[in-house]
Amino acid sequence: MRQRRSNQGQWSSRLAFVLAATGSAIGLGSIWRFPFAVGEHGGGAFVALYLVAVLLVGFPLMIAEVMLGRRGRRNPITTMTLLSEEEAGHPGWGALGVLGIATGLLILSYYSVISGWTLAHAVQAASAPELGGSAAAARAAFAAFQGDALQLVFWHTAFLGAVAFVVARGVEGGLERAVTFTMPVLLLLLLVLVGWSVTHGDAGRALGYLFGASATQVDASLVMAAFAQAFFTLSIGVGALMAYGAYLPADTRVPSATLTVVVTNVLVSLLAGLTIFPLAFRHGIDPGEGPGLVFNALPLAFEAMPGGRVFGTLFFLLLALAALGSAIALVEPAVAWAIERRGLTRQRAVLAVVGTVWVIGISIALSFNALAEVRFWRGNLFDNLEFLTSEVLLPLSALGIALFSGWVMCRSSSSEELEIGVGSRYALWRAAMRWWVPLVLLATGIAATIAWGTGQA
Ligand code: TRP
Repeated sequence: MRQRRSNQGQWSSRLAFVLAATGSAIGLGSIWRFPFAVGEHGGGAFVALYLVAVLLVGFPLMIAEVMLGRRGRRNPITTMTLLSEEEAGHPGWGALGVLGIATGLLILSYYSVISGWTLAHAVQAASAPELGGSAAAARAAFAAFQGDALQLVFWHTAFLGAVAFVVARGVEGGLERAVTFTMPVLLLLLLVLVGWSVTHGDAGRALGYLFGASATQVDASLVMAAFAQAFFTLSIGVGALMAYGAYLPADTRVPSATLTVVVTNVLVSLLAGLTIFPLAFRHGIDPGEGPGLVFNALPLAFEAMPGGRVFGTLFFLLLALAALGSAIALVEPAVAWAIERRGLTRQRAVLAVVGTVWVIGISIALSFNALAEVRFWRGNLFDNLEFLTSEVLLPLSALGIALFSGWVMCRSSSSEELEIGVGSRYALWRAAMRWWVPLVLLATGIAATIAWGTGQA
């Protein structure tokens, strides 16, 4: 087949792709979202479902999304339109690209607020607040911070400003180099933290909680939550993987490159769990307290450990950098589209896209204080946007990717693009796209919708 070439150049090596994809995957999803989602869903059963979801649904979907990008080699909307023309599909498949881009921007609008919390905590850790080892004091300090609208908006603005700055200058130069350096250091710090937390916290209870049977009832909404965590953490469904696949060198095999990303990401999530839960149990923090969990638990550890001031500051700073890497990947597909299709300059495209995200983000920042009383459906504005994106839009997007690559794309195109021949591994992947991924997603989605409708979830 004639190989299409990307307009934007390509990765210098397979390693460059793996690092970039890992950089986009590892961020708040593993370190902030995973622990609080586990806590909200009662532990072991959710963790087990999450692992199954990553392997049986997330991994094949990730292969599919990268494969589509590698074949189309354009921004997600153009790629989907092009590919459906080639496969004699309905032109409406371009909508899948639109859905992805919109979902990515909505995610970024609260991702940025939470990244702001991370930045603020780096500053707070440096000034060593006096918590006296008390969980109540940690909670009070965090509640005071959350209640301060100006602070939240300030840090949200600072973070998005950094995103805009980097994206406007183009991603390749500084950031890629910075992230390849900071990621290994963050992992190292995480390992040290796990060691400290396991030896000083209630490790036995945490292990039982994470990997033992849990009392939670396994129902459709629990399964949906596990899918949501898997998609979110692997960066599936917003077109980012498609964009990254577009820059893959022609001789790189998608499945093995993808597996590296999956394994690293799961490891980081589990390490984050092993850090947070021993601390939570030791200090009597409720694991199910929600998105503040990590921000309440970690300062207690930093206060108690030797050198905790420096260590805590460094940890939160590196986490913010990891989040920056993810945020850039979230915004890039929209910017690429605005440049290619709307003819904006890169600067203007960044201004328009980041400006929109900033405005939505402000309402999210205010949902923790001035607008805290605005509650409907799942809770405050943040809860609703978080739920809408991860448990509704991401699964919809995933369903679209599976149906397109399993049913619209013909066998010869996908096997050619994946370069794994037509043996049993290919057959397994294709069966995933045609049958089990769509069926499981549809069944779970319908069952969960019925449960919401009847007010059981
Ligand atoms: N995976 C990122 C994280 O875990 C968040 C994320 C979701 C993301 N979708 C994305 C990042 C798309 C980049 C691109 O923090």
